[in-house]
Amino acid sequence: PANKKLLVLPGDGIGPEVVREVRRVIDWMDRRRSVTFDIEEGLVGGAAIDALGHPCPDRTMQQAERADAILFGSVGGPKWDSLPFEGRPELGILRLRKELGLFANLRPAIVWSPLAQASSLKAELVDGLDLMIVRESTGGIYFGEPRGIETLPDGTRRGFDTESYTEEEITRVARLAFELASKRSGRLTSVEKANVMQSGRFWREIVTRVGAEFPGVELSHMYADNCAMQLASRPKQFDVILASNLFGDLLSDLAAAVTGSLGMLPSATLGAPDSSGRRHALYEPIHGSAPDIAGKGIANPCAQILSFAMLLRWSFDMEEDAVLIEGAVEKVLTGGLRTADIMVPGAARVGTSIMGEAVVRELDKMVA
Ligand code: NAD
Ligand code: IPM
Ligand code: MN
Repeated sequence: PANKKLLVLPGDGIGPEVVREVRRVIDWMDRRRSVTFDIEEGLVGGAAIDALGHPCPDRTMQQAERADAILFGSVGGPKWDSLPFEGRPELGILRLRKELGLFANLRPAIVWSPLAQASSLKAELVDGLDLMIVRESTGGIYFGEPRGIETLPDGTRRGFDTESYTEEEITRVARLAFELASKRSGRLTSVEKANVMQSGRFWREIVTRVGAEFPGVELSHMYADNCAMQLASRPKQFDVILASNLFGDLLSDLAAAVTGSLGMLPSATLGAPDSSGRRHALYEPIHGSAPDIAGKGIANPCAQILSFAMLLRWSFDMEEDAVLIEGAVEKVLTGGLRTADIMVPGAARVGTSIMGEAVVRELDKMVA
């Protein structure tokens, strides 16, 4: 079927480098699977600031509104670090999430067995790990008011942000997490700090209430600090983890270290379906623009390629193609090719495009 409208937003740093490798996969799908996307490219982050003076220009928002799915690279970098807060590249992704209503950020953390050796933990602690972090992504301290930096009457200054969650915000993301858990192992761990935060206490209350709708899912609650410790020591105890915007951000970077590298983890950020069943969705790696390696051609493109696989699965119901791409990535890793971030003794160290080409070669073999 035609008319799969895809908006590609490469952004900054390694964003364009890893998105380029997805374009190879998209070309392959056109060639070998007769799946054609209607692709637009747009500007976001520092690239959009340079060209149009805003990290997420209205033109990009209009493109995003029209798209069936958005493939996002990453934004930010030292070039724009001294800009005023309201003008920073990071605002690009935040505006997209907020204005498109992308409230649920799904961050799967899977240890591909050829990569167990690249984990920060002993291989046996992570081999077979397959967990899903559901991170709330349009609320919490990222957006709460009041926020700012101000001078107090006594002349001293303070900086402040507000963690705030409405009943509705917690309910919808919790429901999505329970639905996911019921299709997986049936275990959900909800994370907050109900011991010290009012919003955490409220989070626990609402999640517990939503849980009553899902008698088949075993709900447990865990303080976020303990969860970080448990993830870094016994990660296989988890299946689905539900967390606020900030805690989910932190825990997913930690999960990345446990699975081997930030360069491996994709994500999907979903909105609510409208009356016709259409939902906005954005797909991006959980890593950033990696200024320390940008321009060197050594970034790992796997997280971006796997984000595209999630896009096929979640936006276009193309499970078979998603599994093909994931399988091709795994084969490349098993074959011994490694970018620097997942290097292990005995493997062959390659750059971004060799890795992308290798994925396409495996895809070719798989449908031969
Ligand atoms: P980062 O994720 O960009 O990098 C952290 C470390 O991981 C770096 O050492 C980097 O080289 C490495 N790394 C990340 N992705 C990699 C890949 N694909 N292959 C190999 N190594 C990889 O985080 P940071 O350095 O804290 O942030 C850099 C910039 O990116 C900041 O401006 C930040 O705000 C932004 N950022 C953007 C997003 C996003 O666009 N969604 C996400 C996170 C950070
Ligand atoms: C992420 C990033 C973003 C976040 C930044 C760039 C706004 O760290 O996508 O994980 O904190 O959500
Ligand atoms: Mn992050």
